[in-house]
Amino acid sequence: MINVPFFAFEGADGSGKTTLFNGLKALLNDKIYFTREPGGTPVAESIRNVMLDPSLPAMHPITEELLMLSARIEHVNNVVLPKLLAGIPIGSDRCFLSSIVYQGVRGGIGMNEILQDHLRMLGRYLKMTNQDAELEVYSVLPSVIYYLWLPVEESLRRVQGRTSKKMDRLDLEGQKFHKLVHQGYDEAVALLQNNPDFGADKIILIDALQSPEQILAEVHADILRRLELCA
Ligand code: TMP
Repeated sequence: MINVPFFAFEGADGSGKTTLFNGLKALLNDKIYFTREPGGTPVAESIRNVMLDPSLPAMHPITEELLMLSARIEHVNNVVLPKLLAGIPIGSDRCFLSSIVYQGVRGGIGMNEILQDHLRMLGRYLKMTNQDAELEVYSVLPSVIYYLWLPVEESLRRVQGRTSKKMDRLDLEGQKFHKLVHQGYDEAVALLQNNPDFGADKIILIDALQSPEQILAEVHADILRRLELCA
């Protein structure tokens, strides 16, 4: 069993996830290893570039799922497991919850199908890599997910008001699917909360209507408390 926190930050476009992540990085760089999904390793970053390349045509949802799963295995193998085994907490911008939402709901594969595919492939990965330690799959998935929630009208308003962000492939497609993704997050969070193997207490709902400063202060305090509990 691993008793080192693996924090992840999730939320639909416009929820303030990136602002929160950057704020935490500035405050906790000496205590937490910050990373992102898809990405965090050279191979996973290359997969990310393929996934987000606006010059590429739309991909089949199963292609997207397999790309994300490949990037995740690389991330687990090169970042998540080595850091956790070394006692270093992790903070990740996005995690497998995004796959359940974007490929499972928006792509139409199904939430449970994405979850089961992850459990199967991560299980196979652990069996191959970690024969002695008997780690179970959930130990390489986040132990705490901060989920930034706000009403769909407000997140849509914020996304439409953006002028500076360069649009990637999914941003361009995403405007059409904004409501579906938003609803997908709520459904995916409920799926995980009702899964006794994952545990309802691992998802922390954050009111994203608060100011960026309030959100940062709330999550920062919660992380410090959890780090202390594990020290
Ligand atoms: P971001 O860095 O702006 O969060 O962009 C990452 C994009 O990748 C975002 O549109 C969501 C998408 N994504 C998936 O479709 N599936 C996944 O599993 C992950 C982690 C991200």
